[in-house]
Amino acid sequence: MSPNTQPGSTGGEVSSATDGRGALDLSVRLGDLELQNPILTASGTFGYGLEFAPLTTLEQFGGLVTKGLSLAPRPGNPPPRICETRGGMLNSIGLQNIGIHAFLDDVLPGLADYPSQVIVNLFGTAQADYVALAELVDAQAGIAAVELNVSCPNVKKGGIEFGHDPKMLSGLVSAVRSATSKPVIVKLSPNVTSPAELAKSARDAGADMISAINTIIGMSIDTWSRRPRLHTVRGGLSGPAIKPIALRIVYDVVNAVDCPVIAIGGVEDVDDVLEFLIAGASAVQVGTALFRDPQRGPSLVDELESRLAEQGYSSVSDIIGSIVLPTPRDEEHP
Ligand SMILES: Cc1cc2nc3c(=O)[nH]c(=O)nc-3n(C[C@H](O)[C@H](O)[C@H](O)COP(=O)(O)O)c2cc1C
Repeated sequence: MSPNTQPGSTGGEVSSATDGRGALDLSVRLGDLELQNPILTASGTFGYGLEFAPLTTLEQFGGLVTKGLSLAPRPGNPPPRICETRGGMLNSIGLQNIGIHAFLDDVLPGLADYPSQVIVNLFGTAQADYVALAELVDAQAGIAAVELNVSCPNVKKGGIEFGHDPKMLSGLVSAVRSATSKPVIVKLSPNVTSPAELAKSARDAGADMISAINTIIGMSIDTWSRRPRLHTVRGGLSGPAIKPIALRIVYDVVNAVDCPVIAIGGVEDVDDVLEFLIAGASAVQVGTALFRDPQRGPSLVDELESRLAEQGYSSVSDIIGSIVLPTPRDEEHP
């Protein structure tokens, strides 16, 4: 451990095994989920993984999180459904996907060639959908964990209803918990007053981990045509613009639950990764940054390793939860 850090107080423990990348141990253990490093893809920004194999070193990612999968294929929303904004992008894809059966039959076998853990992001319009999806993936050896999307802002009827209501969320998580022995990650919406309260409900109902955040609801108008830039009018904001909000939510969630937290939101560079880890996240998902450069994930792994080595760390675990908070001043406590 570096002399100028404190031991990690929350989040995942780290395995003592090295990942063959030198003396510095980048591996993280999030409960039963072991990752060779803490950099994962964010759902919906990297397809199903395999299609990016010619564009990036897929094997360098700690984990590959799939596009949200439903029981039946979905066409998604009509275009336009993506537009750039300052410091980010808005999307209203609407959970277009090939369906769980096509994924299991046609994609999953190809992913077995890579050491990156496969996490399936699941989505339904009713509790029974999530349960059926969890049952289907339970027997699949190539799937390391499930991430429940209860937070997509781009569909009229769907998971977001679960992500906004603690009671519904609790019922959903305990039903899914009973349907699979895989680690269950619950992905939170930032579009609520207290994501930490929802994290507690999910954890109490049996979630093994929390991931946060999904996109923030936003809007953009073309001033010449006076038309909204998205067909659905509103969409989900992602990219660097949302990072400070994501960091605040991740920090609050870390302090609210006793399980590993996976950070998502606006990661662009190694300082973004470090901020989330220092705040207590055990791993980080990269989304919008991969649109510009699919190699950004692997290059972040390299940069993380160099940066931790430069600062004298021997293991990534030593920086997790190592935030140094200001000491309260006397006048704040008269
Ligand atoms: C085009 C696009 C599609 C997305 N699709 C999904 C999805 O299917 N399921 C999901 O849970 N999140 C989805 N997300 C949200 C991302 O996984 C992530 O939470 C969000 O983009 C914030 O991370 P970022 O700022 O690094 O992109 C999508 C995001 C984008 C930009």
